Amino acid sequence: MLFVGVISGTSVDGLDVALLDDSRGLAVPAGAHQQIPEDLRKELIALATPGDNEVERLGRSNVYLGAWTGQCVLEFLDANGFSNSDVRAIGSHGQTIRHHPEPPHPFSLQIGDASVIAEITGIDVVSDPRSRDLAAGGQGAPLVPIYHLAQFLTDDTVRVVVNIGGIGNITVLDGVKRSVAAGFDTGPGNALLDAWTQHHLGRPFDDDGAWAKSGQPSSELLERLLADPYYSTAPPKSTGKEVFNLAYIQEALATCPAIEANDAQATFCELSARTIADAISRWGTGEADLEDVVVCGGGRHNLELMRRLSDRLSHVSVVPSEDIGVNGDFVEAAALAYLAKLFVEHRPGNCWEATGASGPRVLGCLYPGA
Ligand SMILES: Nc1ncnc2c1ncn2[C@@H]1O[C@H](COP(=O)(O)OP(=O)(O)O)[C@@H](O)[C@H]1O
Ligand SMILES: [Mg+2]
Repeated sequence: MLFVGVISGTSVDGLDVALLDDSRGLAVPAGAHQQIPEDLRKELIALATPGDNEVERLGRSNVYLGAWTGQCVLEFLDANGFSNSDVRAIGSHGQTIRHHPEPPHPFSLQIGDASVIAEITGIDVVSDPRSRDLAAGGQGAPLVPIYHLAQFLTDDTVRVVVNIGGIGNITVLDGVKRSVAAGFDTGPGNALLDAWTQHHLGRPFDDDGAWAKSGQPSSELLERLLADPYYSTAPPKSTGKEVFNLAYIQEALATCPAIEANDAQATFCELSARTIADAISRWGTGEADLEDVVVCGGGRHNLELMRRLSDRLSHVSVVPSEDIGVNGDFVEAAALAYLAKLFVEHRPGNCWEATGASGPRVLGCLYPGA
């Protein structure tokens, strides 16, 4: 049975589409990355921060993103020799516009109209995977641990899966108990690196981390950034780009002596590496059992970030997911496909001990295709 997963991550770098083949041990036979139309991308980025006439703009973008997502799925299936009747369901994440898990009214808002996706594709769509976990008192994040558990668990050892998107998250997999020992957002992954690159170089991201590599981290700025209480807060916890963005950088820089732009970039790179490594040390299961750290998501392409992460975790092997035979660009999309599978089987999709929810819940809402 085939499932399709689609997600546009917080980086708004594009739509990731993955096919999950349930009959072949959750194999991912195909994945694709689609560039978002520029006018839509600009509007999605704008909607992520408060602005004028948001409801109207959100309504339009919701439908536009849904229509474009549906089209992408059809093209993806066609390119891989499949038709809509081959697919049991689509798991759609959409684009996060706000993530506010804090009480008294916790919510996480993703757009990309599932009715439109269902109408265009004729396939059942399962969307809105976060709300039910939030309703049960959880963070609604991260969503990926249950898929990491199904795909990355090793026998008798501890493996940490790190996903470096705009925000970083980790899943600690305990191979002895065969369970998720922890899963939470570590803080900025690429978010600050991207924001500073866009601001200074006018490019979407720091290719291979070359700009960060050309600088030296500033200890004052690093200390200032590390003082953010998010890092010392015990999980469950989650965060978003409404916190870690250009305004956050500018506020931090205002309280530090002037530093070169590339040194600031090196500092943000060290911050991401350091906070991921610290999260593993603090809330993993202890270093003795830790076998390896597997990195997926776009941040693994940032060689300077990977080098700094390896340096910080020098006692274990830190490898891109390709080293264990998994394409790290499609893990999140595959996780959405897996959540759709769990939904149609009426099985819970949240790792509730990790998210802090009061129990296991079936995640999402069904939009029938036909
Ligand atoms: N070649 C590269 N060099 C450095 N960073 C990269 C490279 N390719 C991708 N990235 C980073 O990965 C990000 C996209 O990662 P992704 O996992 O899609 O994040 P999200 O889930 O937030 O969309 C880009 O914004 C960029 O920061
Ligand atoms: Mg992305």
